[in-house]
Amino acid sequence: MRQGNFLDPRIEDFRLEAGEKEMKTLFRKTMWGLALLLLHTGCSVTQRTGGKSAIASKDESFLNFHLYDGGGGMVLPPKVAKRIRFAESSERVFEPVMHRFLDKQLGIPVVDGRMTGILPVQATDGQEVYTFGCAVCHSGKAAGVFVPGLGNKTFDTSKGGKMLRHFVGTHPDSTPSGTNGQEFSHTIGSRKNGNQVRGTVDDVLVFDKFLPDREERDFAPNLVKIPAVWDFESKMKTGLFCDGLGNGLGWFGAVPWAAGQSTESLRRNRERLEEARDLFFRFEPPPYPFEIDRARTEFGQQVFSENCMRCHGTYPGSEPPNFVPVRVVKTDDTRLQLIPGLGDAIDHGPTRDLMQRNIHDEPGYIAPRLRGIWSRFPYLHNGSVPSLAALLTPPDDRPVRFSVRNAGEAHRFDPVAVGLTEKKIIVSGPGNRNLYDTRMTGQSNEGHAFGTRLSQDEKTALIEYLKTL
Ligand code: HEC
Ligand code: HEC
Repeated sequence: MRQGNFLDPRIEDFRLEAGEKEMKTLFRKTMWGLALLLLHTGCSVTQRTGGKSAIASKDESFLNFHLYDGGGGMVLPPKVAKRIRFAESSERVFEPVMHRFLDKQLGIPVVDGRMTGILPVQATDGQEVYTFGCAVCHSGKAAGVFVPGLGNKTFDTSKGGKMLRHFVGTHPDSTPSGTNGQEFSHTIGSRKNGNQVRGTVDDVLVFDKFLPDREERDFAPNLVKIPAVWDFESKMKTGLFCDGLGNGLGWFGAVPWAAGQSTESLRRNRERLEEARDLFFRFEPPPYPFEIDRARTEFGQQVFSENCMRCHGTYPGSEPPNFVPVRVVKTDDTRLQLIPGLGDAIDHGPTRDLMQRNIHDEPGYIAPRLRGIWSRFPYLHNGSVPSLAALLTPPDDRPVRFSVRNAGEAHRFDPVAVGLTEKKIIVSGPGNRNLYDTRMTGQSNEGHAFGTRLSQDEKTALIEYLKTL
């Protein structure tokens, strides 16, 4: 495995510093934005950020779905809620600024004037707060098209968490909702949250909850990109998560649980967990939005049958995906070095009736079904390969660093390589959360060398075929 540098504390500090600088710049930009908008208050058109939306009514219920139960969990504290409501009440001036901030700085898409997965709810103490719905992570844009069920490519949990934590530190609030909000901000803004770049989440945020007494980060990050969740009914048969670890309905509530929702509340809300599961079963992959060269797809399908089908299955078809030992696929194995003691903690912990785990003979990853694969870049479980063309390039020749800035926007989509366009990297080095650096721990782009020795003709046809899935 390549050496990474995550655990170097000096780099962490530098990152924090860079974060502060970013916040100052952001503040300056916001003030400029405000000044400009104030100049235009006479204008009746409200600026709407976000792309084309393709929201079917069945997706509406998912976009509004959350597991909040009145108490702890993914709660934005009342004082944040107050600011959101204030911004919303000023539709012309502050709302567009807030939307732009969420979209560009935190990577939360705003579609048709609506924030994805930030939902107003009533807390048990009567206060109005906001909660994160599943859609904040489990919906996102590709090539400018908003797709419910696609992983959010730009969400920056770490930056959002640090800002939230800073906010609750300077705006104390000892009401029950205030305390719940503070707990959430401390979890998401924790230094243990090792997501180093947008669009990835460190699963440690969840796994940590099983081991509450653990003080320090004594293991590598469990970094994953947020997966697309169509074909989920069959995926569940093989196992949840990129490594097939999870088994059981309770995992649908794992994120709010890790954020402070009680085990009792999950148990009490079994029906809503079932509702979540049923919603996850209903997603359909987005059709490729541009033209496909149909003359090549037949040959592409043949290349696929010979090189890819044994692991990735047949299309159309709905067979459960295969589990492949890491010894065979050889992709970054940091994710598989789970926190020591985690397995035992899952087996014997308070959620053992809700969340179970699968034990495989050897560690490995699930070879995902490939429907809608055009939209799921950057590729692999850790999002380390920017396009299909790069995935079909020998690992040593794949891009070492690439920009994930605005990754879901139309101008970042390359229809030939199928994935991210190459972009000049302006600011480099630690602290740049738009930069994917494959030299960092957990972010290696090694392995999955399948198809890399095909001829250029075969590769082009294969990519064309993959667009049809
Ligand atoms: C902070 C972002 C975030 C939020 C919010 C979130 N998830 Fe996830 N979810 C993830 C990530 C990241 C993974 C992939 C974990 C892995 O593979 O190890 C995931 C995986 C899953 C999976 C398994 C998917 C698979 O391919 O096996 C399910 C089911 C799931 N989430 C349900 C939910 C539900 C239901 C909610 C809302 C209550 C939710 N998630 C909220 C980030 C999030
Ligand atoms: C020996 C089994 C195997 C073969 C053969 C194979 N793959 Fe994979 N593939 C996997 C596994 C396992 C993963 C997940 C690896 C990871 O995420 O680290 C994967 C991941 C992928 C992904 C990324 C999925 C995502 O959501 O990011 C794509 C795209 C892909 N494979 C395409 C192909 C193509 C095209 C071929 C044929 C040229 C192929 N694979 C051949 C096992 C295989």
